[in-house]
Amino acid sequence: MRVTCIGGGPAGLYLGILIKARFPSWPVRIVERNRPLDTFGWGVVFSDATLENLQAADQPTQREITESFAHWDDIEIHFDGHTIRSGGHGFSGISRKRLLSILQQRAGELGAELNFQTDVVDVAAERDRCDLLVGADGANSRVRQTFAEEFQPNLERRRCRYVWLGTTLPLDAFTFIFERTEHGWFTVHAYRFDEQLSTFIVECREETWLAHGLDTADTQQTIAFCEQLFGPYLHGHRLMTNSAHLRGRDWLNFLRVSNERWSFGNVVLLGDAAHTAHFSVGSGTKLAMEDAIGLADALAGAESDGLGKALEQYEASRKLEVLKLQNAARNSTEWFENVARYATLPPEQFAYSLLTRSQRIGHENLRLRDTTYVDRIERWFGGRAVPPMFVPFALRGLELQNRIVVSPMDMYSSVDGTPGDFHLVHLGTRALGGAGLVFTEMTCVTREGRISPGCAGMYLPEHVPAWKRIVDFVHASSRAKICLQLGHSGPKGSTKLLWDGMDEPLDEGTWPLVAPSAIPYSPRNQVPAELSRAEMDDIRDAFARAAGMGMEAGFDMLELHCAHGYLLSSFITPLRNHRRDEYGGSLENRLRYPLEVFRAMRAVWPAERPISVRISATDWVEGGIDGHDAVEIARAFKGEGADLIDVSAGQTTPDAKPVYGRMFQTPYSDRIRNEVGIATMAVGNITDVDQVDAILAGGRADLVALGRPHLSDPFWTLHAAAQLGYEEAPWPVQYLSGKEQLERLAARAREAAS
Ligand SMILES: Cc1cc2nc3c(=O)[nH]c(=O)nc-3n(C[C@H](O)[C@H](O)[C@H](O)COP(=O)(O)OP(=O)(O)OC[C@H]3O[C@@H](n4cnc5c(N)ncnc54)[C@H](O)[C@@H]3O)c2cc1C
Ligand SMILES: Cc1cc2nc3c(=O)[nH]c(=O)nc-3n(C[C@H](O)[C@H](O)[C@H](O)COP(=O)(O)O)c2cc1C
Repeated sequence: MRVTCIGGGPAGLYLGILIKARFPSWPVRIVERNRPLDTFGWGVVFSDATLENLQAADQPTQREITESFAHWDDIEIHFDGHTIRSGGHGFSGISRKRLLSILQQRAGELGAELNFQTDVVDVAAERDRCDLLVGADGANSRVRQTFAEEFQPNLERRRCRYVWLGTTLPLDAFTFIFERTEHGWFTVHAYRFDEQLSTFIVECREETWLAHGLDTADTQQTIAFCEQLFGPYLHGHRLMTNSAHLRGRDWLNFLRVSNERWSFGNVVLLGDAAHTAHFSVGSGTKLAMEDAIGLADALAGAESDGLGKALEQYEASRKLEVLKLQNAARNSTEWFENVARYATLPPEQFAYSLLTRSQRIGHENLRLRDTTYVDRIERWFGGRAVPPMFVPFALRGLELQNRIVVSPMDMYSSVDGTPGDFHLVHLGTRALGGAGLVFTEMTCVTREGRISPGCAGMYLPEHVPAWKRIVDFVHASSRAKICLQLGHSGPKGSTKLLWDGMDEPLDEGTWPLVAPSAIPYSPRNQVPAELSRAEMDDIRDAFARAAGMGMEAGFDMLELHCAHGYLLSSFITPLRNHRRDEYGGSLENRLRYPLEVFRAMRAVWPAERPISVRISATDWVEGGIDGHDAVEIARAFKGEGADLIDVSAGQTTPDAKPVYGRMFQTPYSDRIRNEVGIATMAVGNITDVDQVDAILAGGRADLVALGRPHLSDPFWTLHAAAQLGYEEAPWPVQYLSGKEQLERLAARAREAAS
């Protein structure tokens, strides 16, 4: 098979090496437009895991690379006059020039043809001259552009500018420096990659860059600016550039690249041409080289199964891994784009937030790297070294013994709104299970405001004693507090029980629906009637009445459900609210009614008890609510006296395209908490202690709600305590023998693992 590889960066060269090592008879041509050691950038980093992959693929290359490495363990953060250091991170750095020269030499030795200073313009012609054309031509790939229809690229130009400089400053840690100027923050990402040199990347927001006139600065002016700004850290060392061949493009915007498909016919994308990962997660070169391994492996089957199959197999073997890393990189990119948001955190939390920004490293993982650092942060967070989730939290007069919350979960098991024995056992067990706060399911303020015939309510007099029985049990038998979530289904009402079909309209016994506008939730659902002002008053009063009934039942806290496409959420999202009166149009108008409802509830609810608001922080569709709106929504509720925003997302339209993943809604909580300055609760695919503690210690939320994990394990909190060796969690006295046994087993498991 004749292979032509456009681009002689790490991806193309390494692929050339692997192909020639395995299939020596295949002619491989690598075409590179630059000269052999013309390179933009200075050093790159690898993790130990990447090195293992490289070792398995081609030992001689791995050996050469390892011999050229600079190793370091610590991360050092300079922020607001503080220096915070954390260890155990284990990186290796190598100069990009050295890496390229190792790869070029090995590729040449194995018989690959290297054509330098050859800019490929006619990609289609190259394609016709070979059996396999590899686009390893970097983030601005011409191969990808030429066949854009087939690859369907998605290109996102990010909002920071960065310049990749070098310095002789000998750094002994991966170093982050944050400096505030009159126009905004500048960040340095710096690390040593050989005996003499360190990489020194300077980054800032586009508007900061413009305000400092850096758009018109030449290379020398850029260097002078950075040397002056970071002078105190440089200790007399100079900054240098090696991007002269890029004709003045010193400051770049990071380009996030992804592609719907990575191959078609005999063309395939590799490395940055296929996908990029922001430099702050230091994985671009690793991904590029691992792509080469994946492609070389897949090509082994090309002769028997055909090239098409092999390319499909390559894509399938790499896509998930790349997507995971790109998701982590997205979190990391956004962190650095929003330094101003985090700069309001105390320095200890700022540093912790930075270390855990990608959501890939959790609390226990950090502890494995550096126990002393984690002890220090725990002491800072909780006054003593306890896992963050077991640090009490107060809202108004409500004191929670820990930060774990049983998320509201509709059980579809009430009869005309009345919760029964099932609810007593269900909520009672979860209170015994150790969570600090237990939520009721969405409890509907009118009969017509129910989602399904099985939904709980607070609209008949008998609902008060039915709920009081549950509240009294929780108070008498556990230290948990209990919160009543009040809502109205709006356009999503009159549907079947969940297990008979989610959002499916009832076959019989339907009732009429109301909404801000006469827009059905989906083509299958009933068309709701547009609410009149008088009807809006009635529903507002029903919320206030239900709040009063909740007080009689003894609830500790209220939550107003403004999420998931139900009535109040439908007012807020422009997708469902097309009103022409003062309740439609701008976000301010769309919020008017939900705020009126909140005010009416706040007026009857005791001042010492808190009220939270659950919102959908994004509709996950173009033109719907986004993170920026979510901040404004939270700010508006805060202005009315809301104590906490419970940050959920989506379920407002069947057209939503959610980006699922671990903790996928937490970035919205983080943004709201730190931009608005209000307590938040994170929820959504948060499943383990490591994640929970990192969210809390990093200031991404004040409480963490777990929904499905509590369905499978009512004792989630007590199990977490045993797993972490935290012995003070309040077990019911009746269950203490179980505690001792569990703790013994957990201690043995920890010992065996260490
Ligand atoms: C500031 C910064 C810091 C980074 N830090 C790290 C790090 O610490 N660790 C890490 O792993 N990664 C890092 N990266 C990412 C890393 O540089 C890339 O992910 C990696 O180089 C991708 O390799 P590649 O071979 O796919 O692309 P490239 O290295 O971009 O190589 C593509 C090659 O194709 C050539 N080419 C392009 N078009 C043509 C054409 N038409 N004809 C001929 N040749 C062509 C180019 O000249 C280039 O040599 C960083 C990136 C940036 C921007
Ligand atoms: C069966 C079920 C019922 C739910 N009922 C409610 C509800 O009544 N009110 C609400 O706000 N969210 C409800 N949710 C959403 C959960 O509270 C939670 O936000 C969601 O399950 C994501 O968290 P998780 O990944 O921890 O499960 C429900 C979710 C499920 C799976």
